[in-house]
Amino acid sequence: MSLLDITVTDLRCIEHAQLNVAPGLTLLWGDNGSGKTSLLEAIFLLGRGRSFRTRNTERLIQRGKNHLQVIGRVADPGGRESAVGFEASRTATIARIAGRSAQSLAELSQVFPVQVIEPGVHRLVEEAGYRRRRWMDWAVFHVEPQFIDTWVRYTRALKQRNAALKIEEGEASAWDPELARLGEVIAESRRLFVSRLEPYWQEAVTALSGLAVDLHYLRGWGQDQTLAEALASSRSRDDARHMTHAGPHRADIAIQLHGRPAREVLSRGQQKLVAVAMTLAQLRLLQDLTQTTPTLLLDDPAAELDGERLQRFIGEVLKLRCQLVVTSLQAESRLFGTPERTFRVVQGRVHPV
Ligand SMILES: Nc1ncnc2c1ncn2[C@@H]1O[C@H](COP(=O)(O)OP(=O)(O)OP(=O)(O)O)[C@@H](O)[C@H]1O
Ligand SMILES: [Mg+2]
Repeated sequence: MSLLDITVTDLRCIEHAQLNVAPGLTLLWGDNGSGKTSLLEAIFLLGRGRSFRTRNTERLIQRGKNHLQVIGRVADPGGRESAVGFEASRTATIARIAGRSAQSLAELSQVFPVQVIEPGVHRLVEEAGYRRRRWMDWAVFHVEPQFIDTWVRYTRALKQRNAALKIEEGEASAWDPELARLGEVIAESRRLFVSRLEPYWQEAVTALSGLAVDLHYLRGWGQDQTLAEALASSRSRDDARHMTHAGPHRADIAIQLHGRPAREVLSRGQQKLVAVAMTLAQLRLLQDLTQTTPTLLLDDPAAELDGERLQRFIGEVLKLRCQLVVTSLQAESRLFGTPERTFRVVQGRVHPV
């Protein structure tokens, strides 16, 4: 799958931009604040329906405007083209595929798989579990498209149970059989993904960081219980706090070095390498399992990496042979080879070079 072109309207400092993206390497260069990361956000929006910089899509709308729009064309490996689009106003977002509105963001994700490595990528290691769940679920979904439907049904049942915990005692357990059934399915899909990832992960983390970092999948409830049992045994705590404590919504991936949490023992640069290794391992796995190669966006890839680590990073990225869109402060950046297309970004305007 690759992006052919993209048109961006009223997104951050970009009032209007049109780019024909290369099948291989596209370079975006420009000064600080010129709009490079904003262009990557626009591409990411097309495939994910959200930004990688904020949870609040409204913030992406240009100041003084009411509405942003991104339209693109993508081609699958057989050369079949699809038009994809994403629009956001202050109150709503719409994703479009081939002119009709998409059923869900998952559908967008399937038509245009895209992944990003940006200067904040270390937060995958450092911050709370929700980033790691999202990281894991994006890949699980690409391997097992029905995963998203199970997840949507689970989340719906979870909301109902939590709402019941707030009002009347007793009612909440009516949701337990449904939650337990869907929750076990989700946990099993994730477990399978993490176990398939293991060899790819070992290779990537060793090549990139040389550190013996382990990933442990934690499914979100006790090891020796079924989810139904865990729901029953945490019931008094759930009642007290009006929330459900056991289930795949609490899953995580523990990232450890010699049994200690990576976020406590690794430097920022090392955390970045670990997060990059997680991402590249995931892309390799998807390539092998699904024969799709997502487009990879690299924002300021050299940030925080020393010369040797940067070379290893570049080597691992090039092995993917995927479509790359890379930003740089320098026109002459050749980190990933000679770009097929270069655009200069100046104060929100994009000029082909
Ligand atoms: N909603 C908005 N409306 C208008 N302008 C915005 C909005 N949000 C951010 N900006 C501006 O958009 C500009 C582009 O920022 P962007 O992060 O894309 O630059 P960049 O080229 O990636 O810079 P750097 O090299 O420093 O990373 C910034 O000057 C920012 O202040
Ligand atoms: Mg930037």
